[in-house]
Amino acid sequence: MIPLSKPILSGAEKAAVLRVLESGMLAQGSEVAAFEEEFSNTVSNHHCVAVNSGTSALHLGLLAAGIQRGDEVIVPSFTFAATANAVSLCGAIPVFVDIDLDTFTLNVEATSDAITERTAGIMPVHLYGHPAKMDALSELANRHGLLLFEDAAQAHLAKYQGAPVGTFGISAFSFYPTKNMTSGEGGMIVTSSDEVARKARLLRNQGMEKQYQNEIVGFNNRMTDLHASIGRVQLALLAERTERRREIARLYDAQLQKVITPYVSTDVFHAYHQYTIRTENRDSLAAHLSKNEVGHGVYYPTPVHELPSFGLPLELPETTRAAKEVLSIPVNPSLSDEEVETVIEVVNSWP
Ligand SMILES: Cc1ncc(COP(=O)(O)O)c(C=O)c1O
Repeated sequence: MIPLSKPILSGAEKAAVLRVLESGMLAQGSEVAAFEEEFSNTVSNHHCVAVNSGTSALHLGLLAAGIQRGDEVIVPSFTFAATANAVSLCGAIPVFVDIDLDTFTLNVEATSDAITERTAGIMPVHLYGHPAKMDALSELANRHGLLLFEDAAQAHLAKYQGAPVGTFGISAFSFYPTKNMTSGEGGMIVTSSDEVARKARLLRNQGMEKQYQNEIVGFNNRMTDLHASIGRVQLALLAERTERRREIARLYDAQLQKVITPYVSTDVFHAYHQYTIRTENRDSLAAHLSKNEVGHGVYYPTPVHELPSFGLPLELPETTRAAKEVLSIPVNPSLSDEEVETVIEVVNSWP
């Protein structure tokens, strides 16, 4: 089977973990600090606060930015549930709006229409590694005095109009094993605000900056040095691996037939966390890929507002259509040229 996604781990991660084990310092320490500093170089030197997952980065980032009980935060429904879960975990209300079917990201007009007196934030998701329309969303957030919070879990190194995603507002990245880089589990809060960064650091560590002098009520959402040491190795290889993703995407763009290949706005640098095609006969294509041992996945089959955890009777037509038509095919940088050719041949031989 040609794998849909696969973390690429080498001797370097093993050596890094062993170095930490041998140091005897396993919890948050110097490796985490170095990882934060190195990640900061990829996001215009903004503050970086490492935590134990992308979900924690969303949750603590929102809390640090001041989101509180009863606030409304506008989110897409076509995303992983963690986006909306983080809002709910703050006691706030996720307000689900529709996407643009071409980029699978927040529709700006629908976002504008959803703003009420209780709206406190807008939370675009750079789904599959394609940035949301950050110029229009930034303008909207500024005009209404709202928090702009980027869910950049899938978009390491992606850019919008030349600027790295994660630097338009406060943002959260994920380092889950299937992401473009991993730390095992992990996440990063990114912000240009000293105050938000300090609050996020307090929240991840029981509300303490100095030991046993807890300033606020906080969590234990720290990243360990073991995880950070893996993240550092992966980060050093991220640019090269992103280029390989983009190279595979260009081959697919040029050669795939019978399916709608991903639209890429001229404003963006796409990080291709997923290469996601669309077809009305998605299930037939998925069965054909399975039969020919090509990995594939549907991200996401159920819009978040329809999940039992939210269960809201909303009409979001583009979201519904995307959930029925999308299919992701392998774009991970471990693929050989032969495997890429096989994927193309199998898709094109779909009857
Ligand atoms: C869009 C999106 N948001 C948030 C998350 C949550 O990240 P994590 O799994 O690291 O908690 C993920 C990843 O799974 C994601 O894809």
